[in-house]
Amino acid sequence: MNNTSTFIETKEYKRFAEFCDACIKYRYMGVCYGLPGVGKTLSSRYYSNWDYLEKQISYRLNDTIGVHADEKIFDCHTLFYTAPAVSASRMTSEIGLTDSKLNMVKSVYRSMVTGENPQFTVNSFEGIDLLIIDEIDRLKLQSLEQLRDIYDQNDIAIIFIGMPGIEKKLSRYPQLYSRIGFAHEFDRLSKDETHHLLAYKWEELGLSIKLEDFSDYEALASIIKITNGNFRLIQRLFTQIERILEINQLTSITTEVVEAARDSLVIGIK
Ligand SMILES: Nc1ncnc2c1ncn2[C@@H]1O[C@H](COP(=O)(O)OP(=O)(O)OP(=O)(O)O)[C@@H](O)[C@H]1O
Ligand SMILES: [Mg+2]
Repeated sequence: MNNTSTFIETKEYKRFAEFCDACIKYRYMGVCYGLPGVGKTLSSRYYSNWDYLEKQISYRLNDTIGVHADEKIFDCHTLFYTAPAVSASRMTSEIGLTDSKLNMVKSVYRSMVTGENPQFTVNSFEGIDLLIIDEIDRLKLQSLEQLRDIYDQNDIAIIFIGMPGIEKKLSRYPQLYSRIGFAHEFDRLSKDETHHLLAYKWEELGLSIKLEDFSDYEALASIIKITNGNFRLIQRLFTQIERILEINQLTSITTEVVEAARDSLVIGIK
């Protein structure tokens, strides 16, 4: 997501959040799968408040730890990790490091508030309920075994995020698979919700939809058809729409504008 657009708590996000809550409650392993661009990564980051946490834990050697922390840090109980595209050999240590860094920031901040000496443990997953691993499709058996080990050694839930078909791939590893309690499909936006979202996008461009106006209605219907509930496509299409409106100094989104925008998006639309 670019920094200017805000996260929208869609129905699919709410279902995803319930799924995460349930995995935490039962301390299960869970699998969440969905088509590219439906919003899996963004939802995981939002659920774990990762934009905030990433800033807190990305300190370097001479930085003062915890200076930017606030009370919100104590509400963070989820770690988010993206499986590496190449060589996963450092995965376990990287996850451990992320956990330790969060633990460190929490204790340093706690000690700033209470005045007590900071105390922290390393690699203990203390105060962590859930570990979300994105791009699970990239991992091979050995790395999956490492994750199983983390799961077995700690009292946490783990959620794997991947593409459709990943549940079947995981079923080839019986030991891991037997630990998976829930599977969840991250679905596309429904037509109604896309509709709702588009009204919001129209507003972002400083326009208002008038559905009684046939050309607005037609443009809306064609966007719904082109994007087919795919969040990434909606965002990309709107970037083009905005560009086309600007270049041509237009003030309303018509089917022609939508089609021109679609044509400039060479990839991603069948
Ligand atoms: N809830 C949301 N609110 C606002 N924008 C969203 C939301 N969900 C997704 N998007 C938009 O859709 C884009 C794609 O989302 P995301 O990267 O999470 O998809 P994904 O399911 O992880 O895809 P992939 O399988 O390719 O990794 C984001 O960059 C963002 O622009
Ligand atoms: Mg993703």
